[in-house]
Amino acid sequence: MLKQVLLEAVKTAAAIMKDYSTRSFTISNKEGINNLVTEVDHKCEEAIFEIIKKNYPDHYILSEESGEIVQDSNYKWIIDPIDGTVNYANHIPICCVSIGIEKDGKMELGAVYNPFIDELFFAERGQGASLNGQPIRVSKTQHLVNSCLVTGFPYTYLDMPNGPLEVFGKFIRKGVPVRRFGSAAIDLCYVAAGRFDGFFEHKLNAWDSAAGFLIIEEAGGKVTDMKGDYYNPYQPGIIATNGIIHDDLLKVVQGGEVE
Ligand code: IPD
Ligand code: CA
Ligand code: CA
Ligand code: CA
Repeated sequence: MLKQVLLEAVKTAAAIMKDYSTRSFTISNKEGINNLVTEVDHKCEEAIFEIIKKNYPDHYILSEESGEIVQDSNYKWIIDPIDGTVNYANHIPICCVSIGIEKDGKMELGAVYNPFIDELFFAERGQGASLNGQPIRVSKTQHLVNSCLVTGFPYTYLDMPNGPLEVFGKFIRKGVPVRRFGSAAIDLCYVAAGRFDGFFEHKLNAWDSAAGFLIIEEAGGKVTDMKGDYYNPYQPGIIATNGIIHDDLLKVVQGGEVE
């Protein structure tokens, strides 16, 4: 039942995204000059809220554009109505709806859907991860230097030791490919599907990573914070890999060299 409602919510919002993509929609700025939000982000969020409230009026909701609906519930929906808003606003079809559901503080279900290429990633704790119903697994790449990585950058420059540009530069200098797609939820799902070997980003919010975190774990991967501790979506940094290259990627993020 919960799974069905989750899938109904992502599919409904994704259909709105796709529908509006060929029409004109308003785009505005949040904090920072290029931190955008479109009218469609709000419409997707409204549609998701309506579905949750109809089925589970007492569930807790955390969503990017509307903030929190605090409730005394074991269940918490963590929603990114459009992940990859800058792509969406520029008609780049690398964006998705991402929804994770926590039960008693642990990720229980996650779904990420990109309607432009019709890819639905899904995971339920203990049941494995899937792409359009087919099981997925992380890659078997053994060495960091042979990896294909992906990262993302925050809307405002992070001036910190071992910051995003420094880490990015270390890989580029060694010729290790690092992509930047602009949707953290898709980045995470692509690690889960073995398309990328690892992902790192210095500053995400829970709605960016909640669903992808579970999808990677269920696909056999590893997700930690930048200290190497078990991932907590309510703190900023994330490293997500096939597990094999994890410690080596962690070392680089912490200041070491790519070896
Ligand atoms: C952003 C994307 C991007 C990441 C940013 C996020 P939004 O989310 O996931 O890939 O680099 O940190 O804020 O704003 O498009 O939902
Ligand atoms: Ca996001
Ligand atoms: Ca968003
Ligand atoms: Ca945003």
